Amino acid sequence: MMVPLSAASPDTTSSITFSSKPVLLKSIVNALVSFAPLFTIMKLASRGTLIKTAEKDGIPWTSMEDHLIQNNEKLKYYFSEIENAAVTYPKYYVQQFHGYDDGNLNWKAAYECESAAKVLAARTYAELNLNVDAAFDRMRTSFTNSIKSYALQYRSAAFNTIADIGCSVGISTFYLARAFPSVEKLDAYDLSPYFLAVAKYRQNVVLDESFIAQEDKQLLWPHLSNFPASSISKIRWLHSNAENMKDAASESYDLMVLSSVLHELPQVGQRTTKQYDF
Ligand SMILES: C[S@@+](CC[C@H](N)C(=O)[O-])C[C@H]1O[C@@H](n2cnc3c(N)ncnc32)[C@H](O)[C@@H]1O
Repeated sequence: MMVPLSAASPDTTSSITFSSKPVLLKSIVNALVSFAPLFTIMKLASRGTLIKTAEKDGIPWTSMEDHLIQNNEKLKYYFSEIENAAVTYPKYYVQQFHGYDDGNLNWKAAYECESAAKVLAARTYAELNLNVDAAFDRMRTSFTNSIKSYALQYRSAAFNTIADIGCSVGISTFYLARAFPSVEKLDAYDLSPYFLAVAKYRQNVVLDESFIAQEDKQLLWPHLSNFPASSISKIRWLHSNAENMKDAASESYDLMVLSSVLHELPQVGQRTTKQYDF
């Protein structure tokens, strides 16, 4: 899950909609952000504020990025293993998004994904005064609990095979692995091979005790010790377009999950993706 760092790009034709703001103010703001140099300054300023607030809340934003930069050779290797050169990217996916000029197709976005997802959880539960990992856990567990209660009501058999579509760096996938520990196949699909490479790195943090130094684990991923290696080991990271999955895999699943994905797709993408899921 990513937190938007900016509302519009100078090179898009769409404008920001502030439905409750007067039309004049809306036009002024749109005119300002469509001026590229000013937009860049605004983007940097809002990034700076976001990161400072995140770190104050206990999210190790900079340390996480530094750690992943230092381990970029490993990540590049995972990237090369995972990337499917036959994948073609839809137009919406190759433009500015979440404040990154090339959207989800770059390392920086991949390094910052998990921290941004934690910011969202911290903001969601701000009134509860939880620490950030507790807020994150609460948000993610409420999602898997909803799936569990649905299953209790409508299904007699366990979910043995699960697809997590639009898995990003694997946050939703890990929570699925924990919620359904007897899963036999857990396939995680995403369009960004950068995100999938980071997902695989996180998987190795769980699976291999000596993969990273204990102090890095404590600082960056203390919560990952609560995830069972037995089901995390079942995850396969698959580079594929959700709108075109039949070309990528002739698989079938008991459960197909789209967590925080559909809002990122244009309407036509939502329709084609849903054909496969429901
Ligand atoms: C907000 S993230 C959600 C990540 C994750 N499911 C979670 O709950 O944390 C949305 C993800 O959808 C992916 N995505 C967007 N369009 C896609 C498509 N057409 N096919 C596959 N993945 C897509 C993005 O790359 C991104 O990683």
